[in-house]
Amino acid sequence: MALRPGDGCLIPIPQYPLYTATLAYLSAKPIPYYLNENDHWSLAHSDLVAAVKRAKEAGTPIKALAIINPGNPTGACLPVEAMKQVVQLCYDESLLLLADEVYQANIFDKENKPFVSFKKVLREMDKEVAESVELVSFHSISKGVSGECGRRGGYFEAVNLDAGVMEQIYKMASVNLCPPITGQVSYSPFAFFPSFFASSLVSSSIHDHVACHDKSSNPLSIDNYSARVREWYTLAANRTHLYSEAVVPR
Ligand SMILES: Cc1ncc(COP(=O)(O)O)c(C=O)c1O
Repeated sequence: MALRPGDGCLIPIPQYPLYTATLAYLSAKPIPYYLNENDHWSLAHSDLVAAVKRAKEAGTPIKALAIINPGNPTGACLPVEAMKQVVQLCYDESLLLLADEVYQANIFDKENKPFVSFKKVLREMDKEVAESVELVSFHSISKGVSGECGRRGGYFEAVNLDAGVMEQIYKMASVNLCPPITGQVSYSPFAFFPSFFASSLVSSSIHDHVACHDKSSNPLSIDNYSARVREWYTLAANRTHLYSEAVVPR
């Protein structure tokens, strides 16, 4: 992560504790912004602005804004207006936006409080903002696809990052160890079916089959997991083929 010792990163409170842990590891500074418990854990833009002001007064260089949407541990989904304000703040203050969107398939009230991705919101902003705010969005298979943390599958998508920075990211990723095969297979709906519509069909196929399996008394061993995933893919591929005309780019 491109934070140097002493750099500041805005983080929500309450938070997922690996944020403060990672910042401590990097000797960077957490800049807390507080979510409003009395209003369903909403994010008040004034609280975010106040956190920026406090950090500037303390002489902390603010480099990034981390946001968890849907929230953990709050479960809240941000409304689009609040998301636009976050993107605008990142533009105004030249902040890298780190959008932790790993809970996007775990929504309490889909009708009234749906999940909307930061990439979608960014794309709908003015051209200047849409093409300059740097966004990194995270997703993991451990929450909504197969629900299995141990498979260690996930990915991030970077938008508007400088080509030189991307080169360094690829270099760093290439020297890392990769997740086990089953983890790689499980996140491949997103890699092989890069439209939201198609990848949702694939992951819902996986969901359906995991749900069926859960009812059986026969535990699914790691050995036959890959074989099962291949079956799910065949099914999903048939379904996506049927709908291929309607696929909408993300
Ligand atoms: C908000 C949030 N982000 C990221 C993660 C990391 O997910 P994983 O390491 O299981 O892929 C978690 C896990 O609980 C989380 O709650």
